[in-house]
Amino acid sequence: MAIVSDILITGANGQLGNEFRVLAKAEPDFHFLFTDVDELNITDRSAVISFMDQYKPSVVVNCAAYTAVDKAESEPEKARLLNETAVSHLVAGAKACGATLIQISTDYVFDGTQSHPYQENDLVCPVSVYGKTKADGEKVALTYDRTLLVRTAWLYSSFGHNFLKSMLRVGAEKLFVNVVDDQVGTPTYAADLAETILSMIRCSQSGGLPRGIYHYTNEGVCSWYDFATEIMQMAGFSCKVNPIPGILYPTPVKRPSYSVLDKNKIRKALDLEIPHWKDGLMRCMQKLRG
Ligand SMILES: NC(=O)c1ccc[n+]([C@@H]2O[C@H](COP(=O)([O-])OP(=O)(O)OC[C@H]3O[C@@H](n4cnc5c(N)ncnc54)[C@H](OP(=O)(O)O)[C@@H]3O)[C@@H](O)[C@H]2O)c1
Repeated sequence: MAIVSDILITGANGQLGNEFRVLAKAEPDFHFLFTDVDELNITDRSAVISFMDQYKPSVVVNCAAYTAVDKAESEPEKARLLNETAVSHLVAGAKACGATLIQISTDYVFDGTQSHPYQENDLVCPVSVYGKTKADGEKVALTYDRTLLVRTAWLYSSFGHNFLKSMLRVGAEKLFVNVVDDQVGTPTYAADLAETILSMIRCSQSGGLPRGIYHYTNEGVCSWYDFATEIMQMAGFSCKVNPIPGILYPTPVKRPSYSVLDKNKIRKALDLEIPHWKDGLMRCMQKLRG
């Protein structure tokens, strides 16, 4: 039997939100309500409550966030408003209409000092404003008994701004680029994340997915240098990628050395085959080529 559901997407003009717009075209069983700040500013509590009261979605996927990791250091209040306070508005709205809340979080809630993949119940220890506000947003989201919290990492898409697009720009213009090789993680195609979230929604609506935290990234582990090298190869650019240590590429926020998330929980819960990051990259690049 087809499951018909009203799914509210907040932050729908971002990378992940836009991937849901693409998925919506292939998923007639689901009815989506797409909103970004102009239609629903999630920092406005009364707007969120009255929107939810009017449309009564059965699921809310919060794709809105303050994602400027470095800028957050000088704008902590803005980051907190969107990444923590606004989540409390969504919790209140979801509670009132009984909706499931899907909150997206990040590897930045960890300090990156581990040397084996982070599990869902590992201690969070954020070391940046962005990470702290996302970790506090997690706590708020988890006060609601119908929350599914999804942590992901190194997100890219054909939409928005991301590392892939920066490398494609640089690769087309420059002879070489220096890229950090002592920070590792897993590049994650936002389209794969969106599809996985839709599977979570299906599973939770049939009562098969317990509330709580889930980790999802693509498969595999690489450094930013490996990622950049693969991008240049797939794009056919002759731009040489030089590996450099992170210390030679200072940023306001020190990037975690190790950002790998353990995905066994979601893999088992959904019987999921997770695509390798190189496979996701190839599909995204094909899409960018048109
Ligand atoms: N990007 C990554 O590498 C990464 C890694 C791990 C986890 N995540 C998490 O994954 C989620 C999705 O990330 P993303 O990369 O898709 O984010 P994104 O591209 O930055 O999209 C966020 C969207 O939210 C919108 N927005 C801003 N303020 C809003 C408000 N007050 N009300 C409603 N919408 C608002 C933004 O609009 P404007 O652009 O106009 O501000 C943007 O369209 C986030 O929770 C993020 O923390 C991201």
